Parts: sequence; C-alpha cells; structure tokens
Amino acid sequence: MRLKLLSDGAKELSYEIREIVKKANQLEALGLTIHWENIGDPIQKKTQVPTWIKDIVTKIVQDNCSYGYCPSKGVLSTREFLAKETNALGGAQISAEDILFFNGLGDAIATIYSLLALTTRIIGPSPAYSTHSSAEAAHAHSAPITYMLDPKNHWYPDLEDLENKIKYNPNIGGILIINPDNPTGMVYPLEDLKKIVEIARKYKLFIISDEIYNKIVYNGARAYALAEVIEDVPGIALKGISKEYPWPGSRCGWAEYYNRDKDEHFDAFCRSLDNAKMIEVCSTTMPQMTIPFVFSDPRYTEHRQNLNKKIGHRSSIINEILSDVPELYFNPTYGAFYNTITFKEGVLNERQSLPIENPEIRAKVEKWVENVPSLDYRFVYYLLGATGICVVPSSSFCSDLQGFRITLLEENDETLREIFTKLRDAIKTFIQSA
Ligand SMILES: Cc1ncc(COP(=O)(O)O)c(C=O)c1O
Repeated sequence: MRLKLLSDGAKELSYEIREIVKKANQLEALGLTIHWENIGDPIQKKTQVPTWIKDIVTKIVQDNCSYGYCPSKGVLSTREFLAKETNALGGAQISAEDILFFNGLGDAIATIYSLLALTTRIIGPSPAYSTHSSAEAAHAHSAPITYMLDPKNHWYPDLEDLENKIKYNPNIGGILIINPDNPTGMVYPLEDLKKIVEIARKYKLFIISDEIYNKIVYNGARAYALAEVIEDVPGIALKGISKEYPWPGSRCGWAEYYNRDKDEHFDAFCRSLDNAKMIEVCSTTMPQMTIPFVFSDPRYTEHRQNLNKKIGHRSSIINEILSDVPELYFNPTYGAFYNTITFKEGVLNERQSLPIENPEIRAKVEKWVENVPSLDYRFVYYLLGATGICVVPSSSFCSDLQGFRITLLEENDETLREIFTKLRDAIKTFIQSA
C-alpha cells in the first residue's frame, strides 16, 4: 500500500467476550461440551419471548409501512410514546425531537464517540464494558480513562477517584455510567448518582448513562434513570430492547438528550448525532414500530417481573455457592445479568493449572497460556479446557483486577448449580495447584 491504512486508534478495538468463543469453538470441535457463561444474549441462553410479544411483531410485519424507511430520527409515534414515558418520571422533560434511534446501542456507542473532538475524553467505569471503552479509546487513539468500581465496596463507584481524575485531566469532557452495570451487576445508589451529577455540574461535563438494563433489577433493587436525577446538567441516556423484551437481534436502541438548551456545545453535539443518522438515512423501522404496543401492554410489567425474579433467584444460588470462597472478592448482584468475581491480591501465580484429561485439549490450553496478557487469562483458559465453562477474564474489561465475568442466564436451576459448583471446585483446585 502506498499509505498506512489503519488508524492508530484501531488497536484499541477488542472484544474478549467474543474472542473467547473462538477458543471455546476449537475445544468444542475436540469433543468438549461448552457451558457458555460468556455472552449476554438471553435468547442464546433459551429465554423464551412470550407469544403475545411475537403476536405484536407478527401484526407489525403485516403492516406495509414496516418495510419502508422511517424518519431519520426514528418512527415519530414511537418517539412520542417514549418521550411521554420519560416525562412521566417527573425529572428531565423531553419531546420526540430529543430522541434518536440507532441500530442497537452498539451503533449509538460507536457514533457518539466517533463524533467527539479528538482531544475530548469520556471517563468511564473500570471494569468497563468493552463496547464503550474500546470505542472511546479508538476515537482518542489512546488507552481508556477510567474511574474505579470498588470490589471491596459492593462494586460501587469510587467517587473520590472519579473527581480526582476529572480535576487533574482537563481533557475529560464527560462521565459514562452504566446503570445497572455490565460487567459487575451493580446498581448505582441514588446518592452516588446525585454526587456524579454534582461533579458533572461543577466541572461543566455532560453525562452518558447507558440504561439498557434499567428495567432488569431484582432482589429489592431499584435503578434510577438519569432523567430522574440530572436536573439542569446536559446528558444522554441510552436505552434499548435487546435485553428487555429480550430481542437483541432487532438491533434497536435509542438515545435521549436531556438539557440540550443548557449548553450550546452539547446542543451542537446532539445535532451532529442526528446528522450522522441522516446521512445513513435511518435505523431499522420494524422493531421501532413494536415498542409502544409492547411497552403499553399490561402483560409487559408482569413479563419483566417474572424474568427479573428468575435472574434474582439465580443470583441467590450463585451467591450461595461462591460467596464464601476466602480467596475471592464476591459481591451479590442486583441488576443486569452478569457478575464479576475477582481473586484477592497475590492469589494467582504463573504456576497454577487444572488437570485436563484429553491430551489434545491439554496441549492447546498449555500453548494458549504460554503468552497471556495477565494471570486471569491463565485461569480462564484452564477453566475452559478442564470444565468447558466459558467465562471472560476481568482484565479484558480495562481493569487491573484479576478475575472473570459470569452471566446469570442459565435457565435450568439444576444445571446452574452444577456449573457453579464445578466452577467453585475448579477455583479451589487451581489456587491449591501451586
Ligand atoms: C451496557 C451495554 N450497553 C450496550 C449494549 C449493546 O446493546 P445493543 O444490543 O442495543 O447493541 C450491551 C450489550 O451487551 C451492554 O451490555
């Protein structure tokens, strides 16, 4: 090539959640049964979408309009419906014009960071959900800037760390929160949200709140929406139907802009997001058309409550099995369907392993661990080879903490118990092996 093709930011793009699948597929081909605890797709994990939602989708498919383009910002009647829902929370007030539809939040996240000025940084949580941290880092051609979620304090955000990083880095222009959080399952306490709003106001920042799991809470938790706490600070909430209906294959999510009128730079940024979608024409029409019918159906609340109850029950089972391993930091989860479990400092070393009977699988795992970026990869690869349990190393979530992320999506409670008991036994064997 006459010129270099790749942007310097491209090396920041990585997604271990799917990378580990390639390794698991290799072992599956060698006859190993894989327990997919790595990916947050409820459909893949056999969650059933209720028939009444499928009936709504079937009806919309019969409507010829669902085959056409829609307005660039999204189907108007859906945006009007969603604006009303947000306004009913009693906080930030918006109109249909403050909503922009995307082809899933993955699309929204990629667009948002790509339109930021090169030097403007968004500080996000660590451990970090890679879609945010990678896109942000790729935009800046530099490693992500993060504030700590503290495993010794329920994974709550370390607000002192957050404020210090902002105070001493004038390039930070915004704060990201993911509430409820992926990968920790933590739900931000109301007081912490209020303090984050205060910090944003003090340093003239905007807030991005990823609320894709907002209605997925359990065991007594309540997730507050950004709209409820933001007052006069500019912000963007990101919402979607991937996890809620759940319908991840719909590729349908949206951004809500709060307080556009309070800051001209923020207003221009929102306008440029709208323009970027206009250039693309629009997002997929059909799933958008289903939203008012599904969300306003009296069966929807009950449907979500049922699913949340099941996730909460799984959370309690996992809690029962893993919470008393002394070498781990374990926090019960209250939202989303993940947990990140970390090894205490000094527990892992480069001599630890797990017995693997199949010589071909053992040879592969031994090869993989020769060159790992950190010790939790070693644990994750041995765990995969020895038990078929596929989890994601926590250091791949922009974190120095050594551990792994699991999901809470296994539908069968007995299988769940078996998998997590096997996981606990593997942890003990691995730790004691050297
Ligand atoms: C926090 C968070 N935001 C966004 C997404 C992407 O959602 P979508 O399916 O709408 O692209 C995910 C998917 O796992 C997620 O966990």
